[in-house]
Amino acid sequence: MDATAAATPFSTLIRTASHEQHTEAETSTFMSDLLGGRLGVDAYTRYTEQLWFVYRALEEGAQALRNDPVAGPFIQPQLMRTTELERDLAHLRGTGWREGLAPLPATAAYAARVAECARTWPAGYIAHHYTRYLGDLSGGQIIRDKAEKTWGFTRKGDGVRFYVFEEISNPASFKRSYRELLDAVNADDLEKQRIVAECKQAFALNTAVFRELGEVFPLSA
Ligand code: HEM
Repeated sequence: MDATAAATPFSTLIRTASHEQHTEAETSTFMSDLLGGRLGVDAYTRYTEQLWFVYRALEEGAQALRNDPVAGPFIQPQLMRTTELERDLAHLRGTGWREGLAPLPATAAYAARVAECARTWPAGYIAHHYTRYLGDLSGGQIIRDKAEKTWGFTRKGDGVRFYVFEEISNPASFKRSYRELLDAVNADDLEKQRIVAECKQAFALNTAVFRELGEVFPLSA
Protein backbone atom coordinates (compact mmCIF):
# COMPACT_ATOMS: atom_id res chain seq x y z
CA MET A 1 0.00 0.00 0.00
CA ASP A 2 1.46 3.40 -0.91
CA ALA A 3 1.42 6.44 1.37
CA THR A 4 -1.73 7.88 -0.24
CA ALA A 5 -3.63 4.63 0.20
CA ALA A 6 -2.50 4.40 3.81
CA ALA A 7 -3.86 7.92 4.47
CA THR A 8 -7.18 7.26 2.75
CA PRO A 9 -10.07 6.32 5.06
CA PHE A 10 -10.72 2.60 4.77
CA SER A 11 -14.37 3.17 3.79
CA THR A 12 -13.18 5.20 0.79
CA LEU A 13 -10.53 2.68 -0.08
CA ILE A 14 -12.92 -0.27 -0.15
CA ARG A 15 -15.57 1.65 -2.11
CA THR A 16 -13.08 2.90 -4.69
CA ALA A 17 -11.35 -0.45 -5.03
CA SER A 18 -14.61 -2.30 -5.67
CA HIS A 19 -16.12 0.30 -7.99
CA GLU A 20 -15.34 -1.60 -11.16
CA GLN A 21 -16.76 -4.85 -9.77
CA HIS A 22 -19.84 -2.95 -8.67
CA THR A 23 -20.47 -1.73 -12.19
CA GLU A 24 -19.99 -5.25 -13.50
CA ALA A 25 -22.53 -6.70 -11.04
CA GLU A 26 -24.97 -3.87 -11.61
CA THR A 27 -24.86 -4.17 -15.38
CA SER A 28 -24.89 -7.97 -15.55
CA THR A 29 -27.35 -9.33 -18.08
CA PHE A 30 -29.53 -10.93 -15.43
CA MET A 31 -29.74 -7.75 -13.31
CA SER A 32 -30.39 -5.58 -16.35
CA ASP A 33 -33.15 -7.90 -17.56
CA LEU A 34 -34.66 -8.16 -14.08
CA LEU A 35 -34.66 -4.41 -13.48
CA GLY A 36 -35.70 -3.75 -17.04
CA GLY A 37 -38.93 -5.64 -16.33
CA ARG A 38 -38.07 -8.23 -18.98
CA LEU A 39 -38.21 -11.27 -16.69
CA GLY A 40 -41.07 -12.96 -14.90
CA VAL A 41 -41.64 -13.26 -11.19
CA ASP A 42 -40.19 -16.79 -11.39
CA ALA A 43 -36.77 -15.25 -12.06
CA TYR A 44 -37.19 -12.86 -9.14
CA THR A 45 -38.20 -15.82 -6.95
CA ARG A 46 -35.17 -17.82 -8.00
CA TYR A 47 -32.95 -14.85 -7.22
CA THR A 48 -34.56 -14.45 -3.78
CA GLU A 49 -33.91 -18.14 -3.12
CA GLN A 50 -30.22 -17.60 -3.81
CA LEU A 51 -30.16 -14.70 -1.39
CA TRP A 52 -31.61 -16.93 1.32
CA PHE A 53 -28.65 -19.31 1.07
CA VAL A 54 -26.19 -16.44 1.19
CA TYR A 55 -27.83 -14.65 4.13
CA ARG A 56 -28.14 -17.85 6.09
CA ALA A 57 -24.37 -18.22 5.84
CA LEU A 58 -23.84 -14.54 6.69
CA GLU A 59 -26.17 -14.59 9.66
CA GLU A 60 -25.29 -17.97 11.10
CA GLY A 61 -21.72 -16.73 10.95
CA ALA A 62 -22.74 -13.49 12.63
CA GLN A 63 -23.91 -15.26 15.78
CA ALA A 64 -20.46 -16.69 16.42
CA LEU A 65 -18.73 -13.38 15.65
CA ARG A 66 -20.80 -11.18 17.95
CA ASN A 67 -17.94 -10.77 20.44
CA ASP A 68 -15.09 -10.93 17.96
CA PRO A 69 -12.68 -7.98 18.37
CA VAL A 70 -12.52 -7.38 14.61
CA ALA A 71 -15.89 -8.38 13.12
CA GLY A 72 -17.97 -7.97 16.31
CA PRO A 73 -18.74 -4.22 15.91
CA PHE A 74 -20.29 -4.90 12.49
CA ILE A 75 -22.80 -7.43 13.78
CA GLN A 76 -26.01 -5.49 14.31
CA PRO A 77 -29.42 -7.10 14.78
CA GLN A 78 -31.25 -4.48 12.70
CA LEU A 79 -29.40 -5.71 9.59
CA MET A 80 -30.45 -9.36 9.86
CA ARG A 81 -32.40 -10.48 6.78
CA THR A 82 -33.09 -14.20 7.14
CA THR A 83 -36.56 -13.77 8.69
CA GLU A 84 -37.55 -11.27 5.99
CA LEU A 85 -36.28 -13.56 3.23
CA GLU A 86 -38.31 -16.42 4.68
CA ARG A 87 -41.46 -14.30 4.68
CA ASP A 88 -40.79 -13.29 1.08
CA LEU A 89 -40.22 -16.91 0.09
CA ALA A 90 -43.42 -18.03 1.80
CA HIS A 91 -45.20 -15.40 -0.28
CA LEU A 92 -43.43 -16.31 -3.51
CA ARG A 93 -43.35 -20.11 -3.17
CA GLY A 94 -46.11 -20.82 -0.69
CA THR A 95 -45.98 -22.27 2.82
CA GLY A 96 -43.96 -25.26 1.66
CA TRP A 97 -41.31 -22.86 0.32
CA ARG A 98 -38.43 -24.84 1.71
CA GLU A 99 -39.24 -28.05 -0.16
CA GLY A 100 -36.98 -28.69 -3.10
CA LEU A 101 -35.05 -25.50 -2.48
CA ALA A 102 -31.47 -25.90 -3.72
CA PRO A 103 -28.72 -23.37 -4.35
CA LEU A 104 -27.21 -22.89 -7.79
CA PRO A 105 -23.57 -24.06 -7.85
CA ALA A 106 -22.34 -20.45 -7.77
CA THR A 107 -24.56 -19.72 -4.78
CA ALA A 108 -23.29 -22.78 -2.92
CA ALA A 109 -19.72 -21.64 -3.57
CA TYR A 110 -20.53 -18.10 -2.40
CA ALA A 111 -22.24 -19.28 0.80
CA ALA A 112 -19.37 -21.68 1.50
CA ARG A 113 -16.83 -18.86 1.23
CA VAL A 114 -18.85 -16.66 3.59
CA ALA A 115 -19.12 -19.50 6.10
CA GLU A 116 -15.40 -20.20 5.79
CA CYS A 117 -14.52 -16.56 6.49
CA ALA A 118 -16.92 -16.48 9.45
CA ARG A 119 -15.22 -19.57 10.86
CA THR A 120 -11.59 -18.84 10.15
CA TRP A 121 -11.06 -15.18 9.23
CA PRO A 122 -13.29 -12.56 10.89
CA ALA A 123 -11.69 -9.67 8.94
CA GLY A 124 -12.55 -11.44 5.69
CA TYR A 125 -16.10 -11.82 6.92
CA ILE A 126 -16.32 -8.00 7.11
CA ALA A 127 -15.71 -7.84 3.35
CA HIS A 128 -18.77 -10.01 2.77
CA HIS A 129 -20.81 -8.12 5.34
CA TYR A 130 -20.00 -4.80 3.67
CA THR A 131 -20.64 -6.05 0.14
CA ARG A 132 -24.12 -7.30 0.94
CA TYR A 133 -25.57 -5.06 3.64
CA LEU A 134 -24.30 -1.71 2.40
CA GLY A 135 -25.46 -2.71 -1.07
CA ASP A 136 -28.90 -3.66 0.21
CA LEU A 137 -29.20 -0.31 1.92
CA SER A 138 -28.20 1.45 -1.32
CA GLY A 139 -29.03 -0.12 -4.68
CA GLY A 140 -31.32 -2.58 -2.94
CA GLN A 141 -33.88 0.18 -2.67
CA ILE A 142 -33.86 0.60 -6.45
CA ILE A 143 -34.42 -3.14 -6.85
CA ARG A 144 -37.36 -3.04 -4.41
CA ASP A 145 -39.02 -0.19 -6.26
CA LYS A 146 -38.69 -1.99 -9.61
CA ALA A 147 -39.89 -5.29 -8.16
CA GLU A 148 -42.97 -3.67 -6.66
CA LYS A 149 -43.86 -2.05 -9.97
CA THR A 150 -43.00 -5.02 -12.19
CA TRP A 151 -44.64 -7.85 -10.26
CA GLY A 152 -47.22 -5.93 -8.26
CA PHE A 153 -45.99 -6.51 -4.72
CA THR A 154 -47.52 -4.32 -2.05
CA ARG A 155 -45.18 -1.43 -1.31
CA LYS A 156 -42.66 -2.66 1.28
CA GLY A 157 -44.84 -5.76 1.74
CA ASP A 158 -44.56 -9.51 1.25
CA GLY A 159 -42.20 -10.36 -1.59
CA VAL A 160 -39.90 -7.37 -1.01
CA ARG A 161 -39.47 -7.43 2.78
CA PHE A 162 -35.84 -8.35 2.27
CA TYR A 163 -35.23 -4.78 1.08
CA VAL A 164 -37.09 -3.15 3.97
CA PHE A 165 -35.02 -2.46 7.06
CA GLU A 166 -37.80 -1.75 9.55
CA GLU A 167 -35.38 -0.88 12.32
CA ILE A 168 -33.22 1.49 10.29
CA SER A 169 -35.22 4.69 10.02
CA ASN A 170 -32.46 6.71 8.39
CA PRO A 171 -30.40 4.61 5.96
CA ALA A 172 -28.13 7.55 5.03
CA SER A 173 -27.11 8.10 8.62
CA PHE A 174 -26.79 4.35 9.19
CA LYS A 175 -24.42 4.15 6.22
CA ARG A 176 -22.40 7.02 7.64
CA SER A 177 -21.99 5.18 10.96
CA TYR A 178 -21.15 2.00 9.07
CA ARG A 179 -18.39 3.81 7.19
CA GLU A 180 -17.06 5.05 10.54
CA LEU A 181 -16.89 1.44 11.68
CA LEU A 182 -14.96 0.59 8.53
CA ASP A 183 -12.59 3.50 9.11
CA ALA A 184 -11.94 2.29 12.65
CA VAL A 185 -11.55 -1.39 11.70
CA ASN A 186 -9.18 -3.24 13.99
CA ALA A 187 -6.72 -4.27 11.25
CA ASP A 188 -3.29 -3.17 10.05
CA ASP A 189 -2.63 -1.95 6.51
CA LEU A 190 -1.73 -5.37 5.16
CA GLU A 191 -4.88 -6.89 6.62
CA LYS A 192 -6.91 -4.00 5.16
CA GLN A 193 -5.50 -4.83 1.75
CA ARG A 194 -6.59 -8.42 2.25
CA ILE A 195 -10.09 -7.26 3.18
CA VAL A 196 -10.25 -5.18 -0.01
CA ALA A 197 -9.19 -8.21 -2.05
CA GLU A 198 -11.87 -10.31 -0.36
CA CYS A 199 -14.44 -7.61 -1.14
CA LYS A 200 -13.56 -7.84 -4.83
CA GLN A 201 -13.97 -11.58 -4.47
CA ALA A 202 -17.37 -11.07 -2.84
CA PHE A 203 -18.50 -9.00 -5.83
CA ALA A 204 -17.18 -11.65 -8.20
CA LEU A 205 -19.14 -14.31 -6.30
CA ASN A 206 -22.29 -12.22 -6.74
CA THR A 207 -21.61 -11.78 -10.44
CA ALA A 208 -21.15 -15.54 -10.80
CA VAL A 209 -24.60 -16.08 -9.26
CA PHE A 210 -26.07 -13.57 -11.74
CA ARG A 211 -24.34 -15.38 -14.58
CA GLU A 212 -25.90 -18.71 -13.59
CA LEU A 213 -29.30 -17.10 -13.07
CA GLY A 214 -28.93 -15.60 -16.54
CA GLU A 215 -28.39 -19.09 -17.92
CA VAL A 216 -31.52 -20.38 -16.19
CA PHE A 217 -33.54 -17.38 -17.35
CA PRO A 218 -32.32 -16.39 -20.77
CA LEU A 219 -34.35 -13.52 -22.06
CA SER A 220 -37.60 -15.01 -23.30
CA ALA A 221 -38.22 -12.18 -25.77
C1 HEM B 1 -28.79 -3.19 -10.43
C2 HEM B 1 -28.28 -3.37 -9.28
C3 HEM B 1 -27.64 -2.31 -8.45
C4 HEM B 1 -27.87 -0.98 -8.39
C5 HEM B 1 -28.86 -0.17 -9.20
C6 HEM B 1 -26.97 -0.44 -7.39
C7 HEM B 1 -26.88 0.87 -7.04
C8 HEM B 1 -26.11 1.42 -6.06
C9 HEM B 1 -26.03 2.81 -5.69
C10 HEM B 1 -26.83 3.92 -6.34
C11 HEM B 1 -25.14 2.93 -4.69
C12 HEM B 1 -24.67 4.22 -4.03
C13 HEM B 1 -25.48 4.57 -2.83
C14 HEM B 1 -24.81 5.59 -1.93
O1 HEM B 1 -23.75 6.13 -2.23
O2 HEM B 1 -25.36 5.80 -0.85
C15 HEM B 1 -24.67 1.59 -4.40
C16 HEM B 1 -23.77 1.30 -3.41
C17 HEM B 1 -23.35 0.03 -3.13
N1 HEM B 1 -23.69 -1.13 -3.78
FE1 HEM B 1 -24.91 -1.28 -5.34
N2 HEM B 1 -26.23 -1.44 -6.87
C18 HEM B 1 -26.61 -2.60 -7.49
C19 HEM B 1 -26.10 -3.85 -7.29
C20 HEM B 1 -25.20 -4.16 -6.31
C21 HEM B 1 -24.71 -5.49 -6.05
C22 HEM B 1 -25.10 -6.74 -6.83
C23 HEM B 1 -23.87 -5.38 -5.00
C24 HEM B 1 -23.07 -6.46 -4.32
C25 HEM B 1 -23.55 -7.61 -4.05
C26 HEM B 1 -23.82 -4.00 -4.59
C27 HEM B 1 -23.09 -3.49 -3.54
C28 HEM B 1 -23.02 -2.17 -3.20
C29 HEM B 1 -22.24 -1.66 -2.10
C30 HEM B 1 -21.34 -2.46 -1.17
C31 HEM B 1 -22.45 -0.28 -2.05
C32 HEM B 1 -21.85 0.70 -1.05
C33 HEM B 1 -20.65 1.43 -1.62
C34 HEM B 1 -20.08 2.35 -0.56
O3 HEM B 1 -20.61 3.43 -0.41
O4 HEM B 1 -19.12 1.97 0.10
N3 HEM B 1 -24.65 -3.29 -5.42
N4 HEM B 1 -25.26 0.69 -5.24
